[in-house]
Amino acid sequence: MHKKKTVSMVFMAALLVSLGLADISTAQKADSLDKKAEEIAAAAAVTSNHPEIPEGVSCNDCHTMTIDANTTATQVWLGGEYLGKAEGEGRMSDEQLWAEINKLLGGGKAGTKTYVLATSMNNRPLSTTAEWTFDPGRRMLYGVHEMNTEKLAHIKANPFVSLNWHDEYAGIDGPYRCCQIKGRCELLDGQHPDFEKILIEFAPYEDAATRMMPQNPTPEQREEVLTRVRETFKKRFLMSRITIDRITIVNKDFISKGFRNVQRWERANTGEKP
Ligand code: HEC
Repeated sequence: MHKKKTVSMVFMAALLVSLGLADISTAQKADSLDKKAEEIAAAAAVTSNHPEIPEGVSCNDCHTMTIDANTTATQVWLGGEYLGKAEGEGRMSDEQLWAEINKLLGGGKAGTKTYVLATSMNNRPLSTTAEWTFDPGRRMLYGVHEMNTEKLAHIKANPFVSLNWHDEYAGIDGPYRCCQIKGRCELLDGQHPDFEKILIEFAPYEDAATRMMPQNPTPEQREEVLTRVRETFKKRFLMSRITIDRITIVNKDFISKGFRNVQRWERANTGEKP
């Protein structure tokens, strides 16, 4: 209770400062709060003079965080001078890259994969595992989920998600295949006009119908059972539709084809920089 009060007081003070409404020199903790929280690099660390950071408050509540696009390790792997490649050398074209992504994640229903999903609510991250199917045409992922789980509460509060699919470690020689995704997630309920279409085209929902199927069903019997199962999904499940805004794939085998092992695609015009 006491802590909450302190947090809200700090915020109130910060708000008043930013609105220019308060003469902060009269406020408590004036000497730290009359200074502005400037833009900082994501790698910045606090010093011992830093104003107190209340519990549950993160750096980007006060600072705008910038990711230094030139010096992070990933940027070097993607385009810098690295492993005998000159700057900019060894990058795939978009077409080559999406062909590789499709090889890794594609395959329609049969290519459905278990991913680790990261979400965040109130600055508290959560990672969960679930299945998604890749749609190479729209560059989206679709998942079908039981209602009322923690991850869905997170997504409702904050649609920005990150996913990862990776091979298990197979030894020092790799191939270290993985993909890392940043995107925005919509939740569709059974009433949504796209729900059933996506279920039929992409979700391996037929697996859930096997136990209800009579032996050697006629085409009519099969369709009758599948329709019933789809109705159940519409009532009890939510569908996640994730628009991929950025995808990074890693595969050591790319090197033998003259490419870098790390390749990245980013969607232009995401509306907002995630
Ligand atoms: C409650 C708001 C708030 C939060 C949260 C916050 N800062 Fe700050 N930060 C400030 C203010 C205000 C200043 C300016 C203080 C000054 O100039 O004396 C500052 C200054 C800084 C500076 C400049 C040098 C210094 O240490 O004084 C760095 C670097 C910095 N912050 C990093 C961070 C990082 C990293 C985090 C997260 C771990 C963070 N800040 C969280 C408000 C905040």
